[in-house]
Amino acid sequence: MVTILSPDQASEPRDDRSLYDQLGGHPTLARVHRIFYDAIYAHAWLRQFFDGIDQKVIEDQQTDFMAMAMGGPDRYCGKFPVPAHKHMFITDELFEVRHVLLERSLGDAGVAEPLRSRWLKIDGAFKTRLVKKSVDTCEGRFKTDPVVVVPKPT
Ligand code: HEM
Repeated sequence: MVTILSPDQASEPRDDRSLYDQLGGHPTLARVHRIFYDAIYAHAWLRQFFDGIDQKVIEDQQTDFMAMAMGGPDRYCGKFPVPAHKHMFITDELFEVRHVLLERSLGDAGVAEPLRSRWLKIDGAFKTRLVKKSVDTCEGRFKTDPVVVVPKPT
């Protein structure tokens, strides 16, 4: 039998571990999210969505959520992204601004290719479900929950 290997397979031994393990587990995810949310909380547009929300809580929630999404431990106990963001008017442009910050944070945290791209792909897969076409398509998470609209700072 002849097995034909792709150029990648021929040069790199196959790694069957989860993306979570290949990244180095919890310490790497926590490091990336510290850098990422430092950037978000310093960003003139994005930070306004996080008014009154403790940065450490959101870092931990994001770490637990992504750990689960990357084949790591399943201990996430928050809302899933669609219900968690239904009250936020997230535009295509805003999503892209956040995505670029994430890409930069992964680089700054020393996450190399191809793991960086695999991480960005998982995050980017939420785009179509979180981006809203108009404010009318947002709704509060509970009866009196306001819809959050933050115009782009000029
Ligand atoms: C521009 C895009 C985004 C904005 C403005 C945004 C903003 C926020 C805010 C303000 C919260 C806190 C909500 C609260 O506690 O009341 C939150 C929570 C969260 N976000 Fe995002 N987010 C965005 C994209 C994403 C994406 C792409 C993901 C998935 C990878 C994600 C995953 C989460 C998770 C897991 C939580 C925690 C929910 C909970 O604790 O119940 N977010 N986000």
